[in-house]
Amino acid sequence: MARGAFIVIEGLDRSGKTTQIAALYEHLISLGKKVEQIKFPDRTTAIGKMIDAYLKSQADIDDHAIHLLFSANRWESVSKILKLLEEGTTILCDRYAFSGIAFSASKGLPFDWCKTPDVGLPEPDMVLFLDVSPEVAQERGGYGEERYEKEEMQKRVREEFVRVRDCGGRSLRWEVVNAGRAKDQVELDIRNATQALFNGVEGPIRRLWAP
Ligand SMILES: Nc1ncnc2c1ncn2[C@@H]1O[C@H](COP(=O)(O)OP(=O)(O)O)[C@@H](O)[C@H]1O
Ligand SMILES: [Mg+2]
Repeated sequence: MARGAFIVIEGLDRSGKTTQIAALYEHLISLGKKVEQIKFPDRTTAIGKMIDAYLKSQADIDDHAIHLLFSANRWESVSKILKLLEEGTTILCDRYAFSGIAFSASKGLPFDWCKTPDVGLPEPDMVLFLDVSPEVAQERGGYGEERYEKEEMQKRVREEFVRVRDCGGRSLRWEVVNAGRAKDQVELDIRNATQALFNGVEGPIRRLWAP
């Protein structure tokens, strides 16, 4: 039996990740597929609650320490991710290690240091990067109250995402989707890009940036 596909959606705040994951989820359900949505940070765990307080500016945490907490928050989901994939369930994941690195590197932490704690995480079968300019993202109702939701920060993060893509390793599939267009158009592009994964994937689950 083929395993489930691990599909990650990345992008700036308000690029449409949550909207598009919901649309793809409904599409897969309508096709009768086994599919689950997950998101990072997972704010329900003990580590996730620390991250939540940090993002809401209720707690101040050293940049290095919060970076490691974001990574740890992914690692604590690994057994669940592997179990779902092995039982043939497709995973739609809202943000992953790529966001973790792009945000911390854009604060000035060394890029390679940022990457290290995520080395060895399950590698997505495809990363869909929803590309939108910070200006367009801002027009979508403006940014919220959380720590990183400021235009200057989003500009730097967008630049760092390019570096993250370029260090992706040979096997990583990174598809850029023009997310500045109407929702339906973006949805169609995402469906077309991911269609080949809907019946599952052959072969083992690879590890991110494994030597
Ligand atoms: N293609 C689009 N065009 C215009 N508005 C959009 C589009 N996609 C999403 N939105 C709206 O933009 C806002 C942010 O979308 P959301 O999916 O929550 O983004 P994210 O999860 O990336 O932060 C929401 O109000 C949503 O309805
Ligand atoms: Mg979202």
